[in-house]
Amino acid sequence: MAKLDLGAVQETLLLPLAARAYDAESKYPILNDQKALELFKQLVPDRKAFRRNLLKVGIVSLTERGWIMDRAVKDFLKRNPNGKVLNIGAGLETSFYRLGQPSVPWFDLDLPDSLALRKRLLPNKFNNVKYIGKSMFDESWMDDIGNISNGLMITVPGVFPYFDEKQVQLFFNTFAPKLKGAEIIFDVLSNASRLFVQRKINQAGMNKATLDWGIMNPRHIEQWNQHIQFVKAYIYLQHPSFNAIGNPIYNFISWNSKFFKSAQIFHFKFV
Ligand SMILES: C[S@@+](CC[C@H](N)C(=O)[O-])C[C@H]1O[C@@H](n2cnc3c(N)ncnc32)[C@H](O)[C@@H]1O
Repeated sequence: MAKLDLGAVQETLLLPLAARAYDAESKYPILNDQKALELFKQLVPDRKAFRRNLLKVGIVSLTERGWIMDRAVKDFLKRNPNGKVLNIGAGLETSFYRLGQPSVPWFDLDLPDSLALRKRLLPNKFNNVKYIGKSMFDESWMDDIGNISNGLMITVPGVFPYFDEKQVQLFFNTFAPKLKGAEIIFDVLSNASRLFVQRKINQAGMNKATLDWGIMNPRHIEQWNQHIQFVKAYIYLQHPSFNAIGNPIYNFISWNSKFFKSAQIFHFKFV
């Protein structure tokens, strides 16, 4: 595997990329993200060996996350044809390509080391796309985004669970009052599944990244300040491709995910 030389959380970007790549090679692909497969092949020549780091459930969950967020962005752009899209913790996420390279202002934000890798593997060739090498906590990214009167959709895939609740709360309390009208969609884990996923990440050799935040009830976030309004929650492992596998164990896992809300995607609006 190519040496990534990234920070603890940053190096985890390989896992969702791998999931999208394996999905693209699977019998029932959810995203069929050929760009992700292309990138993954450059980083990990021995795909068979790396496959050990991901369970089928992990591949489906991480891919389904992209599928749900893509649909939310598509829906947002239908409602706000001149809106902007900000992808926080972009890593090697290829949603811009999956969505057919929309012509709206599009921002991919990540920490400088992750963004340097992104620039190297996915050079920005688009006038409407801007790469921002900053932390999501750095308020100056709002200047990079500019006016949001035509709408702003913020996607945050695979980032918040790595922070503790105080830090996530700080993010919401900083930006919700300043970005009124913006929408945000992000994934969360329950405390029980957080421990399970943590073990899988460590087994993949990523020992320094810790999953610190677990949550089940989106209404809890609404209580952080009056500018946060809950829109919708999605539950993982409900995609028809997962059920199409026809394995009763997967059917049970899918039911389990619904019942215990082990991993969800929350959509909020800043008001
Ligand atoms: C698990 S990866 C997810 C990557 C990508 N969203 C995806 O789904 O393929 C976590 C990402 O969060 C980024 N990240 C970690 N801390 C961050 C911060 N403070 N601000 C912005 N991005 C951050 C990492 O660099 C990494 O790209």
